[in-house]
Amino acid sequence: MNTWKTIATASLGLTLTAGLASAAEVTFYKDVLPVLQENCQVCHRPSGANLGGMVAPMAFESYKETRPWAKAMAKAVANKTMPPWHAAPQHQGEFMNERTISQENMDIITAWANTGAKRGNPKDAPASREWPGKDGWTIGTPDLILKTDQVFFVEDDVEDLYVDLTTQLTDDMISEDKFIKAVEFRPGSSAVHHIIAMPLGGIAPGNEASVYPDGIASVLKKGSEITWQMHYHKEPGPGTGMYDQSMVAIKFYDNPEDVKFRMSGAHLGRFDFNIPAGESSYTIQQEYTFPNDSEIVSLMPHFHLRGKSAKYEAFYPDGSSEVLLDVPQYDFNWQTAYKYNDFKKAPAGTKIIFTSVFDNSEGNVFNPDATVDIGWGRPTTDEMSFGYMSFVDSTGKYQPMMGGAGAGNGGLSLVQIVNMFDKNEDGLLQKDEAPGRLTRYFDMIDTNKDGAIDAKEAAVANKFTKNRRRGNQRNSSDD
Ligand code: HEC
Repeated sequence: MNTWKTIATASLGLTLTAGLASAAEVTFYKDVLPVLQENCQVCHRPSGANLGGMVAPMAFESYKETRPWAKAMAKAVANKTMPPWHAAPQHQGEFMNERTISQENMDIITAWANTGAKRGNPKDAPASREWPGKDGWTIGTPDLILKTDQVFFVEDDVEDLYVDLTTQLTDDMISEDKFIKAVEFRPGSSAVHHIIAMPLGGIAPGNEASVYPDGIASVLKKGSEITWQMHYHKEPGPGTGMYDQSMVAIKFYDNPEDVKFRMSGAHLGRFDFNIPAGESSYTIQQEYTFPNDSEIVSLMPHFHLRGKSAKYEAFYPDGSSEVLLDVPQYDFNWQTAYKYNDFKKAPAGTKIIFTSVFDNSEGNVFNPDATVDIGWGRPTTDEMSFGYMSFVDSTGKYQPMMGGAGAGNGGLSLVQIVNMFDKNEDGLLQKDEAPGRLTRYFDMIDTNKDGAIDAKEAAVANKFTKNRRRGNQRNSSDD
């Protein structure tokens, strides 16, 4: 009786093994580890890539560390949450920072997870992959590391906070204007949500270091002051306060003659929208027309928690058109700049239409509140709509970061800003309503010293800044 049972089980086992002959041989060391080295370890290793605070929670280097995650890994690759990459499949091969895994490699992970996640023989393992050390920068050894001049304490009761910090460049740091080749930010605490520090750029969750393509640069001017627009975000509560001093590492071009173009930009932003409560597909658009022959270097859509999808379309002067980038399921956690392998040619007159779709319904699991209308605002719980676009102007002209409506549009006027930030709707902008950057100039603009900027004062200030901008352009190509 006993013997019979054993034989039955044994033969069943045999049939099973025969059916899965190839799959059954999948082991960690021989098959899975090479796939992880190629597709996952850039983030999943001790102190792996810190993409603006998005640090992978576990390492996939040894069998012991990886084994418990086998099922979750198979699931994550099957439903395309890992590796994180949000461009539609039609764009495969177009972007240099693409993070996709081949079907073959997916099958290896799945087969491994489904056959008991076997260890195999460590002798079959590939040589372990070398990664930059814990304190290493992915851009290599920096020429300059800057920190904010102040160490900032993010108080216990802070949930969302915007502050402007500064770094004054001294001659010891740079003694002449320099062409920037690469920039890598490192948040100084887990409360950093994003940083914008012009002209260095910025970082948000999911961003990687920015390395300019050869021949293209931004300029860091000697003696200038860098303003760090810091967005802190954390759970408020006793004991949650923390110190922050964020850093940025910079590499310069060794040889200024190697620089052919300055990086130009457009933000294709909208500020005047209102997404109705409960609306699941609210669409707005913004456009930009290239004044000169240009080449697009990268695209980066930016929304907050209600962002649903993004699309950039190009309408060429010859009447043809194409979708440059389709992000069908936008994920706020991954602020990806899509960087072209081959820059996209945009002849003068090419119109780009950026389409944003928002989901302000309960169906959106990230939606903090589906019962309120939502407009533009800096906190994560308000919305933003930007279709950032970096490009080079083939005529060599530098186009500073511009808005959407058309060439030469220098972004928002102060009158628009007054309207946008006038929370109590009295037609005036009180100092506590003013956005961070403006507070520094507030008293200067408030000429009648009543503690508020009115439309007339804003219009005068506008004229002044416009003249100044024009003057700058005449006097120097950098601004
Ligand atoms: C660009 C960085 C990056 C790459 C590349 C990456 N991961 Fe992740 N992974 C993360 C981060 C960050 C998290 C935690 C946050 C999250 O879940 O989104 C995570 C979470 C996970 C999780 C746990 C969450 C879940 O979905 O169950 C699994 C499993 C996972 N990754 C598997 C993989 C595998 C397998 C690969 C390679 C095929 C991979 N990851 C590649 C950054 C990355």
